[in-house]
Amino acid sequence: MTTTEAHKVSSESTILVQPLAGYTGAEISGVDLAQELSDRTVAEIRQALLTWKVVFFRDQSIGHAEQVAFARRFGKVTPAHPYEDKPPEGFPEIFPIDSRRYAEQYGRKRTSYDSSWHTDVTALINPPAFSLLRAHILPPYGGDTAWTNLVAAYENLPASVREFVDGLDAEHTFEQRAARGGSRAESVERKPLRTFHPVVRVHPETGERALYVSPGFTRALKNIRGLGPRLSSHILDALWEEATRTEYTVRFRWQPGSVAFWDNRATAHLAIPDAGHLGHDRVLYRVTIEGDVPKGVDGRASESVEGDPFYGS
Ligand code: SIN
Repeated sequence: MTTTEAHKVSSESTILVQPLAGYTGAEISGVDLAQELSDRTVAEIRQALLTWKVVFFRDQSIGHAEQVAFARRFGKVTPAHPYEDKPPEGFPEIFPIDSRRYAEQYGRKRTSYDSSWHTDVTALINPPAFSLLRAHILPPYGGDTAWTNLVAAYENLPASVREFVDGLDAEHTFEQRAARGGSRAESVERKPLRTFHPVVRVHPETGERALYVSPGFTRALKNIRGLGPRLSSHILDALWEEATRTEYTVRFRWQPGSVAFWDNRATAHLAIPDAGHLGHDRVLYRVTIEGDVPKGVDGRASESVEGDPFYGS
């Protein structure tokens, strides 16, 4: 078997999948995202994504239209973001991550809109299933993104801890992000989003269990149902640490033409905040694919406290 064959999903497969780290992240080659892909290629990409949780494509020449078209092959594409009011003209699905905007909003450049580990928009009752992020303008160095495998984080916990966390629900909200100021604060106050999600979520496609604690969305309230503030805080601190252990992560160096595609039901990610202070620009475009309402190990569903589901088309 040649090295090339070793990385094929099967001997007949149309793509090559090169794992990048022990638990998560693989680079896919042999595919041009600007072209209409066959059902088989789409199925192979989906399988690689379910296995590796985040996959990367290099040297792609695509714009907003091709990015949205590719995302549609994997599900319904949502509007850009529940609080995005200025998506690019003609592309309501595109969420710009743009250091130039942050300079206007916050008075200083930032690497990304958030500098903590999170899973996308988990304040929603139905957080996005997948996110697809495309590089546009990159700093000469810095501004990498890291992902962590939440299934590995759960599976490697001792059995007694798994049994304990299986029954917990944590509250997710946008509040702390709004408090940082900027134009978003007002819309967050007007239309708040708050949801209790099971701390352990069962993946609807693979059946795997993931440690679903999204630090960026649980840190404001630090509330595990029924445990009170002190215990909730200690337990969440411990679970965030487990979820983001270095061995479960992969770090991606963006280059022109890079695209990352991840499964929000099994990962959290971090835009490493080391580019903003240098004054370089960093612009990426994200689209998200509609997700379902998470379920815990006993089948209980997440419960909305405030806010509507976020649907795509
Ligand atoms: C995101 O959180 O979706 C964007 C990550 C990044 O800016 O690298």
